[in-house]
Amino acid sequence: MSKYLIKGGRVVDPETGIDGVMEILIEDGKIAAIASAKSKTENRKSKIIDASGKIVTPGLIDMHVHLREPGHEYKETIETGCLAAAHGGFTAICCMANTVPVNDNQSVTTYILDKAKTAGTVRVYPVAAISRGLRGESLAEYGELKAAGAVAVSDDGNPVMNAHLMRRAMEYAKGFGLLVISHCEDRNLSAGGVMNEGIVSARLGLAGIPAAAESIMVARDIVLSELTGAPLHIAHVSTECSVRLIRDAKERGLPVTAETAPHYFSLTEEAVMGYDTNAKVYPPLRTARDREAVCKGLADGTIDVIATDHAPHSSIEKDVEFDQAASGMIGLETSIPLSLKLVERGVLSLRELVVRMSASPARILNLDAVGLRPGNPADLTIIDLEKEFTVDSNQFCSKSRNTPFDGWKLKGKAVLTMVGGKIVFDAM
Ligand code: DOR
Repeated sequence: MSKYLIKGGRVVDPETGIDGVMEILIEDGKIAAIASAKSKTENRKSKIIDASGKIVTPGLIDMHVHLREPGHEYKETIETGCLAAAHGGFTAICCMANTVPVNDNQSVTTYILDKAKTAGTVRVYPVAAISRGLRGESLAEYGELKAAGAVAVSDDGNPVMNAHLMRRAMEYAKGFGLLVISHCEDRNLSAGGVMNEGIVSARLGLAGIPAAAESIMVARDIVLSELTGAPLHIAHVSTECSVRLIRDAKERGLPVTAETAPHYFSLTEEAVMGYDTNAKVYPPLRTARDREAVCKGLADGTIDVIATDHAPHSSIEKDVEFDQAASGMIGLETSIPLSLKLVERGVLSLRELVVRMSASPARILNLDAVGLRPGNPADLTIIDLEKEFTVDSNQFCSKSRNTPFDGWKLKGKAVLTMVGGKIVFDAM
């Protein structure tokens, strides 16, 4: 395996507290040494990676991705999704269970892990289903799923409407050391809706989904986490009320964590004007006030994680009437520059951003050996903060093109992604 010496880059690693120009020596797929430029990490046999003017972070982790394989390989395969992740600067991703068949049994989990191994790019951590077939009627076999390699359970894409079943899910998941990730949506309140309920939906003549459809379920699941003592992670937070409820739960010391996605802090419901189906997503894009609350939640740590909710759909599902279109947008290849805008706006420091995209997901998922410490696997991302580019979805590695950010001029891009000492993306 190649030896590398990464020189000249500003290393930003919240795990070790490092923020400064350092040299990183990589041997046998691991971090062999990390030291200031003046000390002796020099090794003649190693290939030099000149990261001058760039930042080096621990590998970024996206804990919310839809890979679509098995079942919908025309939208994304494990191979193309992993490649998109590598190009987006991610070294690890979690993939959701709403495939066909659903990842509610050992054979699907094993299939995903085998395919990911063959793809040989980023690490893949499968999230298994909470309920069999995502039907919300009976629990999947958590022991079997955990043994096969699942790291969490979620019916993402669907809520678990039955509170009793969610209670049992939390109890069993806790017993097996699996995190419960909740897609918070009250289907009775959201039924028929295709975008946020408000002035824009009224103007467009589209049926709305009230913010309460999300927040009511956030409240319910916090109450169930308190009842069961089970760790609960709230997926794709989009409303002011949800942020308030999660902040309160954390203040009371409950084991609740949360994520939001770049589209919730970059866009509002206005993006739907013109009936752009690429802006159709669940939960829907909200108001400017919700967006600000999400930013405040990120700033004060109420929202622990930025995850993409990368949800590929083809033109078959998107080039149709807004009412009929599938929900979801891809995000792996635009997450870094959109998230860096938070640093530019002073919402987060660079260190805090790396926490939200690396250290926090690692902690929540109980992944060990993260951070740029000697002995740890060499998972890292090199980012050029100054690189300006225009988003062109035709250049994406993802099989799908459903992004509302096409044509946006953005700044900041991953230029190298390394997983276990192997370069899986290189644009240096
Ligand atoms: O918009 C969405 N699309 N939200 C989800 O929760 C699921 C996702 C998908 O699978 O397409």
